[in-house]
Amino acid sequence: MTQSNIFILAIESSCDDTSAAVIKDGTVLSNCIANQDVHAQYGGVVPELASRMHDKNIVPVVNAALSKAGVKKEQLNAVAVTRGPGLLGSLIVGVNFAKSLSLGLQIPLVEVNHMEAHVMAHFAEQPYPEFPFLCLTVSGGHTQIVKVSDYNNMEVLGSTIDDAAGEAFDKTGKMLGLPYPAGPVIDKKAREGDALFSFPEPQVGELDFSFSGLKTSILYFVKKQLKADASFVESNLNNICASVQNTIVSILIKKIAIAAEKYNIQSIALAGGVSANSQLREAFTELGKTRRWKTYIPQFQYCTDNAGMIGISGYYHYLNEKYADQSIEPDPRLKI
Ligand code: KG4
Ligand code: ZN
Repeated sequence: MTQSNIFILAIESSCDDTSAAVIKDGTVLSNCIANQDVHAQYGGVVPELASRMHDKNIVPVVNAALSKAGVKKEQLNAVAVTRGPGLLGSLIVGVNFAKSLSLGLQIPLVEVNHMEAHVMAHFAEQPYPEFPFLCLTVSGGHTQIVKVSDYNNMEVLGSTIDDAAGEAFDKTGKMLGLPYPAGPVIDKKAREGDALFSFPEPQVGELDFSFSGLKTSILYFVKKQLKADASFVESNLNNICASVQNTIVSILIKKIAIAAEKYNIQSIALAGGVSANSQLREAFTELGKTRRWKTYIPQFQYCTDNAGMIGISGYYHYLNEKYADQSIEPDPRLKI
Protein backbone atom coordinates (compact mmCIF):
# COMPACT_ATOMS: atom_id res chain seq x y z
CA MET A 1 0.00 0.00 0.00
CA THR A 2 2.63 2.49 -1.01
CA GLN A 3 0.62 4.47 -3.55
CA SER A 4 -0.77 7.84 -2.55
CA ASN A 5 -3.09 10.47 -4.00
CA ILE A 6 -5.42 7.81 -5.35
CA PHE A 7 -8.81 9.37 -6.10
CA ILE A 8 -11.75 7.03 -6.64
CA LEU A 9 -15.28 7.98 -7.63
CA ALA A 10 -17.78 5.47 -6.22
CA ILE A 11 -21.34 4.88 -7.38
CA GLU A 12 -24.12 3.01 -5.55
CA SER A 13 -27.55 2.38 -7.10
CA SER A 14 -28.54 -1.11 -5.94
CA CYS A 15 -31.90 -0.26 -4.40
CA ASP A 16 -33.67 3.07 -3.88
CA ASP A 17 -30.81 5.40 -2.95
CA THR A 18 -28.66 7.04 -5.63
CA SER A 19 -25.29 7.75 -4.09
CA ALA A 20 -21.86 8.96 -5.24
CA ALA A 21 -18.71 9.44 -3.18
CA VAL A 22 -15.12 10.54 -3.72
CA ILE A 23 -12.44 8.64 -1.82
CA LYS A 24 -8.80 9.71 -1.49
CA ASP A 25 -6.34 7.03 -0.33
CA GLY A 26 -9.09 5.15 1.48
CA THR A 27 -10.57 8.25 3.16
CA VAL A 28 -14.06 9.46 2.24
CA LEU A 29 -13.96 13.10 1.03
CA SER A 30 -17.63 13.32 0.05
CA ASN A 31 -20.62 10.98 0.28
CA CYS A 32 -23.77 12.33 -1.40
CA ILE A 33 -27.10 10.51 -1.35
CA ALA A 34 -30.41 11.21 -3.12
CA ASN A 35 -33.18 9.31 -1.32
CA GLN A 36 -36.34 8.36 -3.21
CA ASP A 37 -39.40 9.37 -1.19
CA VAL A 38 -41.68 8.21 -4.02
CA HIS A 39 -41.78 4.64 -2.62
CA ALA A 40 -43.18 5.56 0.83
CA GLN A 41 -46.77 5.74 -0.47
CA TYR A 42 -46.53 2.17 -1.87
CA GLY A 43 -45.22 0.62 1.35
CA GLY A 44 -42.06 -0.71 -0.36
CA VAL A 45 -39.63 -0.11 -3.21
CA VAL A 46 -41.25 -0.13 -6.69
CA PRO A 47 -38.40 -1.33 -8.97
CA GLU A 48 -39.53 0.50 -12.12
CA LEU A 49 -39.83 3.81 -10.27
CA ALA A 50 -36.46 3.23 -8.58
CA SER A 51 -34.57 2.85 -11.86
CA ARG A 52 -36.26 5.92 -13.35
CA MET A 53 -35.28 7.98 -10.31
CA HIS A 54 -31.67 6.71 -10.50
CA ASP A 55 -31.58 7.83 -14.11
CA LYS A 56 -32.75 11.28 -13.10
CA ASN A 57 -30.48 11.60 -10.04
CA ILE A 58 -27.18 10.09 -11.09
CA VAL A 59 -25.63 13.06 -12.93
CA PRO A 60 -26.47 15.68 -10.25
CA VAL A 61 -25.40 13.31 -7.44
CA VAL A 62 -22.03 12.56 -9.10
CA ASN A 63 -21.46 16.28 -9.76
CA ALA A 64 -22.33 17.08 -6.13
CA ALA A 65 -19.86 14.45 -4.85
CA LEU A 66 -17.04 15.78 -7.05
CA SER A 67 -17.67 19.41 -6.18
CA LYS A 68 -18.05 18.72 -2.43
CA ALA A 69 -14.71 16.85 -2.50
CA GLY A 70 -13.09 19.65 -4.56
CA VAL A 71 -11.96 17.05 -7.10
CA LYS A 72 -12.14 17.34 -10.89
CA LYS A 73 -13.04 14.24 -12.90
CA GLU A 74 -9.66 14.46 -14.67
CA GLN A 75 -8.00 13.79 -11.28
CA LEU A 76 -9.81 10.46 -10.82
CA ASN A 77 -7.76 7.24 -10.87
CA ALA A 78 -10.68 4.81 -11.02
CA VAL A 79 -14.48 4.44 -10.93
CA ALA A 80 -15.93 1.92 -8.46
CA VAL A 81 -19.50 0.70 -8.80
CA THR A 82 -21.91 -1.73 -7.13
CA ARG A 83 -22.38 -4.68 -9.48
CA GLY A 84 -24.81 -6.51 -7.16
CA PRO A 85 -26.69 -7.82 -5.31
CA GLY A 86 -29.71 -5.57 -5.78
CA LEU A 87 -32.52 -4.68 -8.17
CA LEU A 88 -31.55 -5.29 -11.80
CA GLY A 89 -33.06 -2.08 -13.20
CA SER A 90 -31.41 -0.01 -10.47
CA LEU A 91 -28.01 -1.67 -10.86
CA ILE A 92 -28.06 -1.16 -14.64
CA VAL A 93 -28.14 2.63 -14.21
CA GLY A 94 -25.06 2.75 -11.95
CA VAL A 95 -23.06 0.12 -13.84
CA ASN A 96 -23.68 1.72 -17.25
CA PHE A 97 -22.83 5.17 -15.94
CA ALA A 98 -19.59 3.90 -14.37
CA LYS A 99 -18.61 2.00 -17.53
CA SER A 100 -19.06 5.11 -19.68
CA LEU A 101 -17.10 7.29 -17.29
CA SER A 102 -14.23 4.81 -17.11
CA LEU A 103 -14.18 4.56 -20.90
CA GLY A 104 -14.40 8.32 -21.41
CA LEU A 105 -11.70 9.13 -18.85
CA GLN A 106 -9.56 6.08 -19.76
CA ILE A 107 -9.31 4.97 -16.12
CA PRO A 108 -9.92 1.53 -14.56
CA LEU A 109 -13.38 0.32 -13.65
CA VAL A 110 -13.67 -1.52 -10.30
CA GLU A 111 -16.69 -3.69 -9.47
CA VAL A 112 -17.88 -3.93 -5.88
CA ASN A 113 -20.13 -6.43 -4.10
CA HIS A 114 -22.71 -4.45 -2.10
CA MET A 115 -22.65 -6.88 0.86
CA GLU A 116 -18.84 -6.82 1.05
CA ALA A 117 -19.06 -3.03 0.96
CA HIS A 118 -21.39 -2.95 4.00
CA VAL A 119 -18.63 -4.82 5.87
CA MET A 120 -15.96 -2.49 4.46
CA ALA A 121 -17.85 0.50 5.92
CA HIS A 122 -15.81 -0.33 9.04
CA PHE A 123 -12.72 0.94 7.27
CA ALA A 124 -14.17 4.40 6.72
CA GLU A 125 -13.25 5.56 10.23
CA GLN A 126 -10.58 4.55 12.76
CA PRO A 127 -10.28 2.35 14.77
CA TYR A 128 -10.37 -0.33 12.09
CA PRO A 129 -11.35 -3.85 13.21
CA GLU A 130 -8.46 -6.31 13.46
CA PHE A 131 -8.56 -9.40 11.24
CA PRO A 132 -10.10 -11.88 11.60
CA PHE A 133 -13.45 -10.55 12.77
CA LEU A 134 -17.07 -11.59 12.41
CA CYS A 135 -19.57 -9.18 10.89
CA LEU A 136 -23.32 -9.35 11.39
CA THR A 137 -24.64 -7.67 8.24
CA VAL A 138 -28.30 -6.79 8.60
CA SER A 139 -30.01 -4.90 5.80
CA GLY A 140 -33.34 -4.65 4.00
CA GLY A 141 -32.47 -7.51 1.66
CA HIS A 142 -29.90 -9.62 3.55
CA THR A 143 -29.00 -10.98 6.97
CA GLN A 144 -25.60 -12.62 7.15
CA ILE A 145 -22.82 -13.57 9.52
CA VAL A 146 -19.56 -13.07 7.63
CA LYS A 147 -16.07 -14.16 8.64
CA VAL A 148 -13.72 -11.41 7.50
CA SER A 149 -10.12 -12.66 7.21
CA ASP A 150 -8.80 -9.75 5.14
CA TYR A 151 -10.01 -6.79 3.02
CA ASN A 152 -10.63 -9.12 0.10
CA ASN A 153 -11.26 -12.37 1.93
CA MET A 154 -14.76 -12.90 3.31
CA GLU A 155 -16.82 -16.04 3.94
CA VAL A 156 -20.54 -16.23 4.72
CA LEU A 157 -21.05 -18.50 7.75
CA GLY A 158 -24.81 -18.14 8.03
CA SER A 159 -27.67 -16.26 6.42
CA THR A 160 -31.44 -15.94 6.35
CA ILE A 161 -33.45 -18.74 4.81
CA ASP A 162 -36.36 -16.38 4.02
CA ASP A 163 -36.90 -12.70 5.00
CA ALA A 164 -34.13 -10.33 6.04
CA ALA A 165 -34.12 -8.54 9.41
CA GLY A 166 -34.86 -5.21 7.73
CA GLU A 167 -37.79 -6.81 5.93
CA ALA A 168 -39.15 -8.00 9.29
CA PHE A 169 -39.15 -4.36 10.46
CA ASP A 170 -40.62 -3.06 7.19
CA LYS A 171 -43.36 -5.71 6.88
CA THR A 172 -44.35 -5.27 10.54
CA GLY A 173 -44.58 -1.54 9.88
CA LYS A 174 -46.86 -2.16 6.91
CA MET A 175 -49.18 -4.28 9.10
CA LEU A 176 -49.27 -1.49 11.68
CA GLY A 177 -49.91 1.21 9.07
CA LEU A 178 -46.46 2.80 9.41
CA PRO A 179 -44.66 4.40 6.42
CA TYR A 180 -41.83 2.67 4.49
CA PRO A 181 -39.06 2.16 5.52
CA ALA A 182 -40.52 1.29 8.91
CA GLY A 183 -37.26 0.33 10.68
CA PRO A 184 -36.40 3.86 11.87
CA VAL A 185 -40.05 4.55 12.83
CA ILE A 186 -40.34 1.34 14.89
CA ASP A 187 -37.00 2.17 16.52
CA LYS A 188 -38.35 5.57 17.62
CA LYS A 189 -41.72 4.29 18.83
CA ALA A 190 -40.11 1.36 20.68
CA ARG A 191 -38.23 3.83 22.87
CA GLU A 192 -41.59 5.08 24.18
CA GLY A 193 -43.01 1.61 24.79
CA ASP A 194 -42.44 -1.64 26.72
CA ALA A 195 -41.85 -5.11 25.31
CA LEU A 196 -45.06 -6.48 26.88
CA PHE A 197 -45.84 -9.03 24.14
CA SER A 198 -43.69 -12.00 23.27
CA PHE A 199 -43.29 -13.68 19.90
CA PRO A 200 -41.69 -17.08 19.21
CA GLU A 201 -38.09 -17.20 18.01
CA PRO A 202 -37.34 -19.47 15.01
CA GLN A 203 -35.67 -22.86 15.26
CA VAL A 204 -33.33 -22.95 12.25
CA GLY A 205 -29.73 -24.01 11.53
CA GLU A 206 -27.12 -22.93 14.11
CA LEU A 207 -25.96 -19.78 12.26
CA ASP A 208 -28.95 -19.26 9.99
CA PHE A 209 -31.85 -16.86 10.42
CA SER A 210 -35.56 -16.91 9.63
CA PHE A 211 -37.98 -14.00 9.97
CA SER A 212 -41.03 -15.07 7.98
CA GLY A 213 -42.55 -17.01 10.92
CA LEU A 214 -42.24 -13.92 13.11
CA LYS A 215 -44.11 -11.90 10.49
CA THR A 216 -46.96 -14.46 10.51
CA SER A 217 -47.17 -14.61 14.29
CA ILE A 218 -47.32 -10.79 14.51
CA LEU A 219 -50.11 -10.80 11.92
CA TYR A 220 -52.19 -13.40 13.84
CA PHE A 221 -51.52 -11.66 17.15
CA VAL A 222 -52.68 -8.28 15.84
CA LYS A 223 -55.78 -9.81 14.14
CA LYS A 224 -56.77 -11.62 17.36
CA GLN A 225 -56.33 -8.52 19.52
CA LEU A 226 -58.26 -6.36 17.05
CA LYS A 227 -61.27 -8.72 17.30
CA ALA A 228 -61.48 -8.04 21.03
CA ASP A 229 -60.56 -4.35 20.85
CA ALA A 230 -60.82 -2.42 17.57
CA SER A 231 -58.44 0.28 18.85
CA PHE A 232 -55.76 -2.20 20.02
CA VAL A 233 -53.07 -1.13 17.52
CA GLU A 234 -53.69 2.55 18.09
CA SER A 235 -53.58 2.31 21.88
CA ASN A 236 -50.66 -0.16 22.00
CA LEU A 237 -48.51 0.96 19.06
CA ASN A 238 -45.40 1.80 21.09
CA ASN A 239 -45.62 -1.46 23.06
CA ILE A 240 -46.09 -3.54 19.90
CA CYS A 241 -43.07 -1.82 18.31
CA ALA A 242 -40.98 -2.42 21.45
CA SER A 243 -42.02 -6.11 21.53
CA VAL A 244 -41.27 -6.78 17.85
CA GLN A 245 -37.94 -4.94 18.00
CA ASN A 246 -37.01 -6.81 21.17
CA THR A 247 -37.63 -10.17 19.45
CA ILE A 248 -35.63 -9.25 16.32
CA VAL A 249 -32.70 -7.94 18.38
CA SER A 250 -32.75 -11.03 20.61
CA ILE A 251 -32.60 -13.36 17.55
CA LEU A 252 -29.68 -11.41 16.03
CA ILE A 253 -27.64 -11.14 19.23
CA LYS A 254 -27.99 -14.86 20.06
CA LYS A 255 -26.70 -15.88 16.61
CA ILE A 256 -23.64 -13.63 16.55
CA ALA A 257 -22.76 -14.86 20.05
CA ILE A 258 -22.99 -18.51 18.92
CA ALA A 259 -20.83 -17.74 15.85
CA ALA A 260 -18.13 -15.94 17.86
CA GLU A 261 -17.91 -18.86 20.29
CA LYS A 262 -17.93 -21.49 17.56
CA TYR A 263 -15.16 -19.81 15.55
CA ASN A 264 -13.29 -18.58 18.63
CA ILE A 265 -13.17 -15.02 17.30
CA GLN A 266 -13.30 -12.23 19.88
CA SER A 267 -13.84 -9.33 17.51
CA ILE A 268 -17.39 -8.69 16.26
CA ALA A 269 -18.82 -6.01 14.00
CA LEU A 270 -22.26 -4.80 12.96
CA ALA A 271 -23.17 -3.53 9.46
CA GLY A 272 -26.08 -2.73 7.12
CA GLY A 273 -29.15 -0.51 7.47
CA VAL A 274 -30.55 -2.30 10.55
CA SER A 275 -27.28 -1.59 12.39
CA ALA A 276 -28.69 1.95 12.77
CA ASN A 277 -31.18 0.45 15.28
CA SER A 278 -30.57 1.86 18.74
CA GLN A 279 -31.54 -1.26 20.71
CA LEU A 280 -29.40 -3.48 18.48
CA ARG A 281 -26.41 -1.15 18.90
CA GLU A 282 -26.84 -1.16 22.70
CA ALA A 283 -27.32 -4.93 22.93
CA PHE A 284 -24.28 -5.51 20.68
CA THR A 285 -22.08 -3.28 22.85
CA GLU A 286 -23.42 -4.99 25.99
CA LEU A 287 -22.64 -8.43 24.53
CA GLY A 288 -19.06 -7.30 23.93
CA LYS A 289 -18.72 -6.00 27.48
CA THR A 290 -20.10 -9.19 29.06
CA ARG A 291 -17.94 -11.53 26.97
CA ARG A 292 -14.91 -9.20 26.81
CA TRP A 293 -15.08 -9.15 23.01
CA LYS A 294 -14.15 -6.15 20.88
CA THR A 295 -17.19 -4.62 19.20
CA TYR A 296 -17.31 -2.36 16.14
CA ILE A 297 -20.37 -0.37 15.10
CA PRO A 298 -20.25 1.95 12.07
CA GLN A 299 -21.23 5.62 12.23
CA PHE A 300 -24.86 6.21 11.20
CA GLN A 301 -23.92 7.68 7.80
CA TYR A 302 -22.19 4.39 6.86
CA CYS A 303 -24.97 2.04 8.09
CA THR A 304 -27.61 2.51 5.39
CA ASP A 305 -26.77 2.39 1.68
CA ASN A 306 -24.09 4.89 0.66
CA ALA A 307 -21.37 5.14 -1.98
CA GLY A 308 -18.70 5.88 0.66
CA MET A 309 -18.57 2.18 1.57
CA ILE A 310 -18.48 1.24 -2.14
CA GLY A 311 -15.44 3.52 -2.55
CA ILE A 312 -13.63 2.01 0.44
CA SER A 313 -14.20 -1.51 -0.89
CA GLY A 314 -13.22 -0.37 -4.39
CA TYR A 315 -10.02 1.23 -3.06
CA TYR A 316 -8.75 -2.10 -1.69
CA HIS A 317 -9.61 -3.86 -4.97
CA TYR A 318 -7.78 -1.07 -6.83
CA LEU A 319 -4.64 -1.57 -4.71
CA ASN A 320 -4.73 -5.25 -5.71
CA GLU A 321 -5.24 -4.21 -9.35
CA LYS A 322 -8.54 -6.11 -9.35
CA TYR A 323 -10.01 -4.18 -12.26
CA ALA A 324 -13.25 -5.00 -14.03
CA ASP A 325 -13.79 -5.39 -17.72
CA GLN A 326 -16.14 -3.25 -19.84
CA SER A 327 -18.11 -6.46 -20.48
CA ILE A 328 -19.34 -6.82 -16.86
CA GLU A 329 -23.09 -6.99 -16.36
CA PRO A 330 -25.04 -6.14 -13.19
CA ASP A 331 -25.73 -9.26 -11.11
CA PRO A 332 -28.86 -9.02 -8.90
CA ARG A 333 -27.81 -12.18 -7.01
CA LEU A 334 -24.07 -11.55 -6.72
CA LYS A 335 -22.64 -13.60 -3.83
CA ILE A 336 -19.77 -12.87 -1.43
O1 KG4 B 1 -28.60 -1.48 4.07
P1 KG4 B 1 -29.84 -0.77 3.71
O2 KG4 B 1 -29.83 0.74 3.66
O3 KG4 B 1 -30.39 -1.24 2.32
C1 KG4 B 1 -30.27 -2.54 1.85
O4 KG4 B 1 -29.18 -2.89 1.34
O5 KG4 B 1 -31.27 -3.27 2.01
O6 KG4 B 1 -30.97 -1.26 4.74
C2 KG4 B 1 -32.28 -0.78 4.71
C3 KG4 B 1 -33.05 -1.44 5.86
C4 KG4 B 1 -34.56 -1.15 5.80
O7 KG4 B 1 -35.23 -2.39 5.96
C5 KG4 B 1 -34.80 -0.23 7.01
O8 KG4 B 1 -36.09 -0.37 7.58
C6 KG4 B 1 -33.72 -0.69 7.96
O9 KG4 B 1 -32.59 -0.91 7.13
N1 KG4 B 1 -33.39 0.32 8.98
C7 KG4 B 1 -33.63 0.13 10.29
C8 KG4 B 1 -33.23 1.33 10.94
N2 KG4 B 1 -32.74 2.19 9.99
C9 KG4 B 1 -32.84 1.54 8.79
N3 KG4 B 1 -34.16 -0.92 10.96
C10 KG4 B 1 -34.29 -0.79 12.29
N4 KG4 B 1 -33.95 0.32 12.98
C11 KG4 B 1 -33.43 1.39 12.36
N5 KG4 B 1 -33.08 2.46 13.06
ZN1 ZN C 1 -27.42 -2.22 1.66
